[in-house]
Amino acid sequence: MARFRIRNIALCAILLVMVYYNLPAEPAVPNFHEGKVSHRGTQQLAQYMNDVAQIPKIEAKKSSFDWSSVKFTYPPERTPKLPPPATKRPRIQHTFPTEPQNVADVQEKRRLEVKKVFEKSWKGYKEHAWMKDALKPLSGRSVDQFSGWAATLVDSLDTLWMLGLREEFYEAVKAVAGIDFGKSTSHTVNTFETNIRYLGGLIAAYDLSGHAALKAKAIEVGDLLYAGFNTENRMPVDFIGFENAKLGIGLLVEDSVVSASPGTITLEFSRLSQITGDSKYYAAVSHVMDLFYEKQNKTKLPGLWPMYVSMRREDVTSGYQFSIAGNADSLYEYLPKAYTLLGSSDPSSEKYEIMSRAFMDTAMQNLFFRPMIPGNEDILISGNVDVLDDGPRLDPESEHLACFIGGLYALGGRLFENDVYVTTGDKLARGCGYAYKSFPTGIMPERYNMIICPDQKNCKWDEDVWVTERAKRAEYRENLPKGFTTAKDPRYILRPEAIESVFILWRITGNEDFREMAWDMFQAVANATDAPFGNAAIDDVSVVGSQKTDYMESFWMAETLKYFYLVFADSELISLDEFVLNTEAHPFRLAKVEN
Ligand SMILES: *[C@@H]1O[C@H](CO)[C@@H](O)[C@H](O)[C@H]1NC(C)=O
Ligand SMILES: *[C@@H]1O[C@H](CO)[C@@H](O)[C@H](O)[C@H]1NC(C)=O
Repeated sequence: MARFRIRNIALCAILLVMVYYNLPAEPAVPNFHEGKVSHRGTQQLAQYMNDVAQIPKIEAKKSSFDWSSVKFTYPPERTPKLPPPATKRPRIQHTFPTEPQNVADVQEKRRLEVKKVFEKSWKGYKEHAWMKDALKPLSGRSVDQFSGWAATLVDSLDTLWMLGLREEFYEAVKAVAGIDFGKSTSHTVNTFETNIRYLGGLIAAYDLSGHAALKAKAIEVGDLLYAGFNTENRMPVDFIGFENAKLGIGLLVEDSVVSASPGTITLEFSRLSQITGDSKYYAAVSHVMDLFYEKQNKTKLPGLWPMYVSMRREDVTSGYQFSIAGNADSLYEYLPKAYTLLGSSDPSSEKYEIMSRAFMDTAMQNLFFRPMIPGNEDILISGNVDVLDDGPRLDPESEHLACFIGGLYALGGRLFENDVYVTTGDKLARGCGYAYKSFPTGIMPERYNMIICPDQKNCKWDEDVWVTERAKRAEYRENLPKGFTTAKDPRYILRPEAIESVFILWRITGNEDFREMAWDMFQAVANATDAPFGNAAIDDVSVVGSQKTDYMESFWMAETLKYFYLVFADSELISLDEFVLNTEAHPFRLAKVEN
């Protein structure tokens, strides 16, 4: 609230409304209406007061089962205690100058275009899939694949808020307040997806709006997931047997899981501890991350963990496949992000810095390569490494999921004041931008191969090499853009990772070409995926007018459209100095610091 210089009378009015509706003072300050560029000062204050006046009183309905009442066979440790809030953090975002009016006008038009596409998808969900997990945008049907707790609704809450759609937001909050987390449409609950979509979505919506009903529901989901730590060695299960978890009988940890699963609870559980003041969530994940910390340099590629790990045997070292892409991705993503959220004064966050630097250095040396492309642009692609008897071997295969890594390096570079990380992140983000613009639809495939340039410094295009390499591939196809040797999986399923990195690079460097890149990507995506009731996955990015699949992932409105929107909105809307985003693009509020 200190951001606004307002007269006392206005302050009193706001406080009165807050008291009347019993709102928590923290973190209830909506700081921007909808991020319209150059829209500050008194106009904004008026809008803010209007927002506050409209906050409806909504009570959370208790779920049919109280997850906080579970009697654990294996009670998890209650320590370490949650560290005190951060006091220092380097500045993350670029210092943006005031934009010339003509530039601001262009961005404003783009922002409204993104909003229009969101509104169509939201309308489709509301009319055809309300309270279901996902919309089928071609047929206007729906599907429950995440336990039936309205995944798309929960995932979209904070985007509604950012877009200034307050009426829709509170309508959604009202619906969320009635979700019953004591019943599930599936016998087992997916820990990873429930954590990033439901818990992440609820926490962020609470952090933005301060609405108590959202906090109450976040705690219910948090306690449900916490029941997944009721195991002999206190490592979480990947799938929670719903009814057994209620009984409190110990759960059996799976023998082999992808490393991203146990590695992607840190941020949500730490924030939940911060919000509730109860250290138990934080303590549970600290235990997991300690294992990764102790073993980081004992793997076949020290600094990185294998793609498959065994939490049952506490084996995070013996696997031989390494990648920062799918299966492993957010394990790495959450290391610099946990450091951001927890602050630097605490010994446990020092571990997050050590793990972050070690993985970033190793990945830079072993996974990233400069591809051979016709224009010889200096870009980077992230590949996969297998470590067999003859040492590490880099496979120049990449995928859309890997595209988050550019943004993460830029963020890590600012946090740890390392310019090489920022430059590397820049080249990685441009690598994905390059892949987008290379394909006829303007969108990159789900999975593809390129050629590692023999000379990484002075890379020269050689068409004969490309023709030869392409012919060696079983997935050979005639219509591939030059430089690509496969489009192994040619789909685009509305994924956000490329625009995520472009957004972060824009906010960190202020380099205008990222906004242009984002606009090209947006037009291509909006056009190719347009469907009767929203947007649909497409089957082949190398074919203009490709067949579509009748599915709209909840991350389309939670992530992809949010990132597009934020690129064109005011740079202070969800500032990276005020929020850290979880892997589903849900912003968690950071402690205020000097920088
Ligand atoms: C792992 O190696 C890195 C880089 O050499 C080092 O900074 C870090 O402290 C090591 N981690 C542990 C747990 O010893
Ligand atoms: C997609 O682009 C084509 C060609 O520019 C245009 O004719 C069409 O109207 C666009 N469709 C949408 C949904 O934007």
